[in-house]
Amino acid sequence: MYCLGSHATSTPEVKPKPVLQFANPAWTPDSRPYGGVTTESRFAPEYFQREDEEDDRIFYQSPRLVVHIDQGAIAAISDFFKSQIPENAEILDLMSSWRTHWPADHPKEKMVGLGLNQVELKENPDLDEFVVHDVNKDLELPFEDESFDAVVITVSAQYLTSPIETFAQVNRILRPGGTFIVSFSNRMFGTKAVLIWRNSTDRGRVDLVGTYMEAAGNLEDIQAAFLNPQTSPPNDPMYAVYSRKAKPA
Ligand SMILES: C[S@@+](CC[C@H](N)C(=O)[O-])C[C@H]1O[C@@H](n2cnc3c(N)ncnc32)[C@H](O)[C@@H]1O
Repeated sequence: MYCLGSHATSTPEVKPKPVLQFANPAWTPDSRPYGGVTTESRFAPEYFQREDEEDDRIFYQSPRLVVHIDQGAIAAISDFFKSQIPENAEILDLMSSWRTHWPADHPKEKMVGLGLNQVELKENPDLDEFVVHDVNKDLELPFEDESFDAVVITVSAQYLTSPIETFAQVNRILRPGGTFIVSFSNRMFGTKAVLIWRNSTDRGRVDLVGTYMEAAGNLEDIQAAFLNPQTSPPNDPMYAVYSRKAKPA
């Protein structure tokens, strides 16, 4: 198990010891061990407990105007957004802060941020709109059905206590064919990360996010990638699990 830092709200996310790297950066649905059949019963409720079960708004009440991954990892996710999300898209940055890592040379129609700290969201130059909303407390995302072309969750999935329900909500608000990208590194606020995440390796977390997507339903073409194998280490590793909302038959 990792040793993951203290409860102090000013503490930056911690980088645990290096863990197993992928031999093959490409990871496709065929290589998943669950054969595409997943049910929520795979997850016991205690997997989603946290050391700090206090209201999330308390932990996030002080703005943290810091980046949670290094510049190499930021470049990797920024390039990945450009490769996966079409120009002029309407995008939701779910669990957003003062940075979205959006590529400056990639035009977008609209970017909406949802997070817990108003100061952070106001500081984010990529956001056209934002909403403060606790996704763990109120599972229904405050958006109309089929209102986004893409939804991204960047370095934050470890804090979801009902990830399958949240991913089902993402499916609801995506337009058919829309893109869902969940990316992460190996840092975290340990006391706020769910136990199953804390107790997994990087590769296990890739599989876990893929499993959430399978269980949420109607997300297809689930794939994963190690985004920066050439530069990590020493850069923070960056992984993405991504899928598309199924189009009606
Ligand atoms: C590590 S930061 C990542 C921020 C940003 N996505 C990035 O790439 O830097 C985690 C973010 O998740 C958001 N968050 C954590 N718990 C949340 C919750 N229960 N509801 C909504 N947002 C939450 C916080 O507002 C915080 O900004």
